Amino acid sequence: MNSLIDKYNIPGPRYTSYPTVPYWDENSFTPELWKQSVIRTFKESNAEEGISIYIHLPFCEALCTFCACHKRITKQHSVEIPYLESVLKEWQLYLKLFNEKPKLKELHLGGGTPTFFSPKNLKTLLEGIFETVEIAEHQEFSFEGHPNNTTKEHLQTLYDLGFRRVSFGVQDYDPKVQKAINRIQSFEKVREVTEWAKEIGYRGISHDLVFGLPHQTWEAMESTIRKTMELKPDRLAFYSYAHVPWVKGVGQRGFDENDLPSGEEKRRLYEDGKKLLEELGYIEVGMDHFSLEHDDLYQSLIQKKLHRNFMGYTSSKTQLMVGLGMSAISDSWYAFAQNIKTVEEYQKMVEEEEIPVVKGHILNDEDLTVRRHILNLMCQLETTFDIHNSFPELENAFEMLKEMENDELVEINGHHIQITEKGRAFTRNVAMVFDLRMMRNKPETRIFSMTI
Ligand SMILES: C[S@@+](CC[C@H](N)C(=O)[O-])C[C@H]1O[C@@H](n2cnc3c(N)ncnc32)[C@H](O)[C@@H]1O
Ligand code: SF4
Repeated sequence: MNSLIDKYNIPGPRYTSYPTVPYWDENSFTPELWKQSVIRTFKESNAEEGISIYIHLPFCEALCTFCACHKRITKQHSVEIPYLESVLKEWQLYLKLFNEKPKLKELHLGGGTPTFFSPKNLKTLLEGIFETVEIAEHQEFSFEGHPNNTTKEHLQTLYDLGFRRVSFGVQDYDPKVQKAINRIQSFEKVREVTEWAKEIGYRGISHDLVFGLPHQTWEAMESTIRKTMELKPDRLAFYSYAHVPWVKGVGQRGFDENDLPSGEEKRRLYEDGKKLLEELGYIEVGMDHFSLEHDDLYQSLIQKKLHRNFMGYTSSKTQLMVGLGMSAISDSWYAFAQNIKTVEEYQKMVEEEEIPVVKGHILNDEDLTVRRHILNLMCQLETTFDIHNSFPELENAFEMLKEMENDELVEINGHHIQITEKGRAFTRNVAMVFDLRMMRNKPETRIFSMTI
């Protein structure tokens, strides 16, 4: 396995979209085309499967210096109300495009830190949305909670509004790691919020752990995993630390490249971490995600219903996902769009009654074919190509897979590809073979984090 990781650990996308953001063709995109695409998808899919909303709540009180998310650091809570008013106004702009009441199937509050907002303000925001929609049966509402500022009242208020899933950012319990990433957070605090969530009735409780952080050793990782097991979250995200200091605005600092585990050490963190999680009863569901057997995510994997979008893996699929808030990404299956990335510009555009999308991509037929196959590989670990509906490079792509077949990472049968158990860690590498936009235009500088 070691030499396989050496061989395949290269920079690569995480495929929450295809084409991936750096390969969006700006020339194909206009806000007008985006609106038309939303109208089309809404008509096609609202009645049947409903829609998803993602709300980006960007504020955090302090900067964690490993974080790669779009955030705004402030201690001023006076930003809350104007921001949520902008989000509600933005939603009104979308409502004008719809010919019937949206059926809300999935809702996710991400960030930044949603629990930066007071429970009362979150309630105002959500009620503002709920009065304009019909809530679907078996709705899936989730949010990201920072253990240091999630209160019992947050959990209760959101539960009463229909939320059943929460993910808590844990990362690592080791004091040296926590100091380096500027995120001091005790196990007792995480225990408290996790127990509150269980008591209130949440059933999809997840913890985010990250491997490859500065100063992280296997001993620290093992202790973090064993502590996590005491709390038995239903799910776990086990993310590889994405070191992307070149990306504007992420603010990854406060430690040196030399403080990061070497490739060899990071590999051990991943491999031994995965082994330990499996010994402790967690099943790898999709890339980076583990769950206990009873959890919906695992059940949807078995039923082949697992889906992946900008929110990560989800157990249901909707064709239309409207992203609200600064930097939020929306997906209409036929197009992607991203909102402007600063709070002030976002608020200004919404004030001027403009849907605040500033970049995006309209998928052509070939993109749609590739998107479907990459999604199959990421979610079902298999896909079958139809040679009559493919692309000129298909045979070449299969040629490239031969090496992975020899390494027993995939099984190939005609035009059917199955990723093997051993190949799961290399799913991103398999998907990359079919990433036509990247293959045709290889990046000259580093734009992606490493695949492992
Ligand atoms: C928006 S935060 C979660 C909510 C809240 N802000 C918190 O920190 O608890 C989303 C998650 O992304 C993950 N994350 C952020 N930056 C990362 C990076 N550079 N590499 C890998 N994972 C990262 C962390 O696990 C983090 O918990
Ligand atoms: S990890 Fe969470 S709290 Fe920390 S800066 Fe990123 S979004 Fe904010």
